[in-house]
Amino acid sequence: VRILITAGPTREYLDDVRYLSNASTGKMGYALVRSARLRGHDVVLVSGPVDLPAPEGCEVLRVVSSREMHAACLSRFPQCDGVIGAAAVCDYRPRARLPGKIKKTGKGLQLDLVETEDILATLGRIKEHRWIVGFALESEDARPNALRKLESKHCDAIVLNHPRAIGADDSSIELIDRSGETAGAWTAEKAVLADHLLAWIESTLGGD
Ligand code: C5P
Repeated sequence: VRILITAGPTREYLDDVRYLSNASTGKMGYALVRSARLRGHDVVLVSGPVDLPAPEGCEVLRVVSSREMHAACLSRFPQCDGVIGAAAVCDYRPRARLPGKIKKTGKGLQLDLVETEDILATLGRIKEHRWIVGFALESEDARPNALRKLESKHCDAIVLNHPRAIGADDSSIELIDRSGETAGAWTAEKAVLADHLLAWIESTLGGD
């Protein structure tokens, strides 16, 4: 099985030196890559900027912005059987990237932000026989929000996790299937969680 995996944060530049981003380290996505490789799958990793070494034995596309991640995913998804969206893609980017470095003026500065393109939602529209597993990092109304994302992004499953997961080696996740049922809930190291998720994908979404 050929699996597209997104990992890490994106950066959305407001001028040539400053960007908006988040504290994602890519650990969950890279753990999924390792687990998928060990289980004998082909992997294409689309990674935002992280400090982790590139995993061996898979194609790695390094990107910076959500727009680049979107383009990289669109180019590889048609050759894959499914996608796991573990990246913490920025939801907003500055409307314009200004050249040089924005100067201080002694007054406040208002940023004009626009929504980024939703990568999984785009892939959901062209998925055909392919499967999509998304992540939902939620701080409140977690389950209803995760279910909404499952639906709107045409996911086959969604992995609900908590902001505590960011940068941590361990995490607590709930795997929710397409019907909204809990398919599994685990607290463990990300390497172990990755293996649980891949095992479920193989048995339920046809990963053999
Ligand atoms: O940011 P949000 O909570 O909507 O993210 C849920 C899922 O959608 C994650 O799997 C994330 O990788 C993906 N996503 C995306 N493109 C975005 C925002 C999120 O693919 N612009």
